[in-house]
Amino acid sequence: MNGNSWYKEMAVYHIWCRSFCDGNGDGIGDLWGVLSKLDYIKSLNVNAIWFSPIYPSPNADYGYDISDYMNIHPDYGDLDLFRKVLDGAHERGMRVFMDLVVNHTSDEHNWFKESRKSRDNPYHDYYIWREGRLKGKLRWKHRIPPNNWMSLFEGEAWEYDEGLDEYYLHLFAKKQPDLNMANPKVREEVKKIMRFWLDMGVDGFREDVITFIGKTPGLPNSYPKLPVANGMKHFSNRPEALEYMREFKNDVLDGYDCFIVGESPLTSADTALKYLSEGPDRVLDEMIAFNHMEADCFMTDMIQRPFDLKKMKRAFSEWQEKLYGKAWNALYIENHDHARIISRYGNEDYRVESGKMLAAMYMLQRGTPFIYQGQEIGMLNIDLPDLDSYADVQTINSARVAMRFMPKKKVMELVNRSSRDNARTPVQWSSERNAGFSDGEPWFPVNGNYREINVAAQDGDPDSLLNFYRKLVRFKLDNPVALYGDYKELCADSDRLYAYLREYEGKKLLVVCSFTAESVRFEAPEDFDLSRGEAVFTNYEYNYVVSNGFTTRPYEVRVYLFE
Ligand code: GLC
Ligand code: CA
Repeated sequence: MNGNSWYKEMAVYHIWCRSFCDGNGDGIGDLWGVLSKLDYIKSLNVNAIWFSPIYPSPNADYGYDISDYMNIHPDYGDLDLFRKVLDGAHERGMRVFMDLVVNHTSDEHNWFKESRKSRDNPYHDYYIWREGRLKGKLRWKHRIPPNNWMSLFEGEAWEYDEGLDEYYLHLFAKKQPDLNMANPKVREEVKKIMRFWLDMGVDGFREDVITFIGKTPGLPNSYPKLPVANGMKHFSNRPEALEYMREFKNDVLDGYDCFIVGESPLTSADTALKYLSEGPDRVLDEMIAFNHMEADCFMTDMIQRPFDLKKMKRAFSEWQEKLYGKAWNALYIENHDHARIISRYGNEDYRVESGKMLAAMYMLQRGTPFIYQGQEIGMLNIDLPDLDSYADVQTINSARVAMRFMPKKKVMELVNRSSRDNARTPVQWSSERNAGFSDGEPWFPVNGNYREINVAAQDGDPDSLLNFYRKLVRFKLDNPVALYGDYKELCADSDRLYAYLREYEGKKLLVVCSFTAESVRFEAPEDFDLSRGEAVFTNYEYNYVVSNGFTTRPYEVRVYLFE
């Protein structure tokens, strides 16, 4: 905030701590593990780390249900240990961002425990409590929830509390009651939390579903009941949310040299610009968009479609073009909310080739690249035997809903492909026991492919995916054309190639990516002489180009620099 722009020359490594590295042998990743891997993270050439929530949490949604905002989950260590990690990261030239989840808390947070004690408890109004509606006549009269909204994770968005004879709102799981951000006291609490971490030296926040924090006053009914999230227009991108964000900026964030990236499901580039446009009104530095992650599904990862390259390209290009000169993109293809990208948009049979292609494809666009743990070594989806083996609340609940409409076998196929748990298996450090993740019994299954796919096997191999990532990050941060160049998509009609051009101060960068194992002819634009470009990245032995095009090999990527 406050007009800085260092985030434009930044690459971020994203840690989901529970599965990153276990330092004390209890099977759970922790901050001792992170401390031991700071040199490894630095070796990727990134200059920042974002932690998914590491606060105390009953883990209904693995940290995204927080019970104490100003502490560290005992599974992960304590505040002193966190300070060591923070200092260690800073000493190595890496900034540190915390996840800030303030749309909701855990139902085990003290505020919520107080709030449900009585209607006149001082914390009652920290949450969104409402009386039910009455339906039916005479002896058929019965109580129904205050409105017809459905949650994103667990049935109706309202949960009844008998003691109070009221319902509380939860847009996610039942154990994640929504905070009442319209209450100024709640906003003061949020500011306190922000100051607590910023004063400690943390460099900013990734703000979880921040565009959901404002709700339409009066909480009216929405579209007819759908199985999930029908109330969207009353809780997503409301003007109230923008106002609260502005207040956080004015009262706290502008006073610090910090970075704020918001997360916003189902938001278009146009809407994002309301928060991101550079100038005094900017309330977020970047936005984690979802459009490009919907090229093989519809709205949610659970509703599967065949991968549609054109859809992916349109999404990327739209954000690139609309934000150009106005705002800055957050670039990512993996995080803790999505299945592994090679298994989705690449090809497991061409794991290394497609992994390299996907890496260059997103990282060389205009914006700040984020790399999710394990992505850099090409970790893949895991095949789990049954629903009981899954841990993720969203997976389990949406599978249960789907089983009402579909045969179990079909649902399990969908779950296997789309579950967030695919990205939450322990990081594969070596071919040793438990992939070197833990000396104890890992809290979640290690992917059986760890003997081939692991950090140790790739570390010293100059052709490995890991070293490709290292070089790519270095290149991205060292080359103004990769940072600041404009963006022009080429061959937009192709359903097998994605190519784009970046240009800055006389230098050009041409990125050509094949999304197929078949051979496809790429022709460079007429005014290009490929033979004069330097092939700075390729995923095959380089074929010298004599004509102005080439025929691709499976999942080939070529990046040419023209000086
Ligand atoms: C965000 C998080 C996700 C979490 C949800 C509810 O989308 O990334 O992991 O389940 O918000 O907090
Ligand atoms: Ca541990």
